[in-house]
Amino acid sequence: MSKVAILGYGTIGSGVAHVLEENESIVTKNAGEKIEVKRILDLRDFPGDPNEAKVTHEYSDILEDDEIDIVVETMGGTKPAYEFVKNALLAGKSVCTSNKALVADHGTELIAVAKEKGVKFYFEASVGGGIPILRPLTTCLVADKIISIRGVLNGTTNFILTKMTAEGADYDEVLKEAQSLGYAEADPTADVEGHDTCRKIAILTSLATGTFIDYNQIDTVGISKITADDISYAKRLGRQIRLIGMSYMEDDKIYAFVAPYMLSGEDPLYSVNGVFNAITVRGNMLDDVMFYGQGAGKDATASAVVTDIVEVVKNRGRSLNIRWEDAGVKVSPVSEMSDRFFLRVKKEDESVIDGLDILEKVDDVISGEIGAVTGRMTEKELLNKLSDRSKIVSLIRYQ
Ligand code: HSE
Repeated sequence: MSKVAILGYGTIGSGVAHVLEENESIVTKNAGEKIEVKRILDLRDFPGDPNEAKVTHEYSDILEDDEIDIVVETMGGTKPAYEFVKNALLAGKSVCTSNKALVADHGTELIAVAKEKGVKFYFEASVGGGIPILRPLTTCLVADKIISIRGVLNGTTNFILTKMTAEGADYDEVLKEAQSLGYAEADPTADVEGHDTCRKIAILTSLATGTFIDYNQIDTVGISKITADDISYAKRLGRQIRLIGMSYMEDDKIYAFVAPYMLSGEDPLYSVNGVFNAITVRGNMLDDVMFYGQGAGKDATASAVVTDIVEVVKNRGRSLNIRWEDAGVKVSPVSEMSDRFFLRVKKEDESVIDGLDILEKVDDVISGEIGAVTGRMTEKELLNKLSDRSKIVSLIRYQ
């Protein structure tokens, strides 16, 4: 029998207790022993909850309990999660977390501590919610050199873009709807400005390369400036706008960035709609493989955490098989990476794009405007060739 403590009894923490209870029989079979929640740490009490008696407000009740050898961290944020998790690892307890901020900020140190103490630090649920992606990266795709990772990694922004496309509605209107449905937070900045996607692509790229990728170095553009008019152009060009987190590993360079893209129908990410997430990984032997599913939500995310718990139980006595060290790798600027671009200018300003290699122009979407698709070039070249950047109404990467 394994005894587990849950730190934070919110949506995901209570989901972990629910999955363990609801799927007790299959989880026990897969782990080879029963897994029981012994304590729950939260500031609140939960009168009437079946786990009410397990709740404590003192972390020491968990840290000093030798029977508990797995700690689930579902508090979110880094304070006090970092201190709690580090102390749990130092005390010889394995940790399973859904907390991407914790992993993106402190992954290098926490993995090193776990290795030193002979315990596990697993974080499958921190990227892509319930989608198994981190374990496949570290245990299945190990015969390949990973060339690229591209993903729709944020459900909130994908819901907004999908609705804007389906209804021709403007960003602010759909954001309000996403908030009322509980997808977007009251402060939606982390999602809509791409920060959430940025941390997720940093974690994926760190695991794929075995070297820590600092999310602070990742150029990040969100969706808050995408308008209904941009979506109209995308439709006219047979494209979907999606917020993409991506990284390319090229020779000794690593590019990683987050940006809205106009995707063609041939791109597997084109059809990822609503709150769903999808990640495509390209290996040098395997070529493309895609992972698709619910990137958020109580039970889906909790399912990934419980999988981590089962992996801890099954792999006792084995060392943590995650390569992730800080080798001081610098992320190369995305402005140096070749791409195609879509841009909009007023008809009277059309001459500002004269110096560019233009593959296609459309002038029947918004009256008095031209939409243009460029040939492949770096963003730096594009900006240098524009005679007046201030005349560009909108600029979006184009697949
Ligand atoms: N806010 C995230 C999203 C959920 O909308 O995808 C979990 O990372």
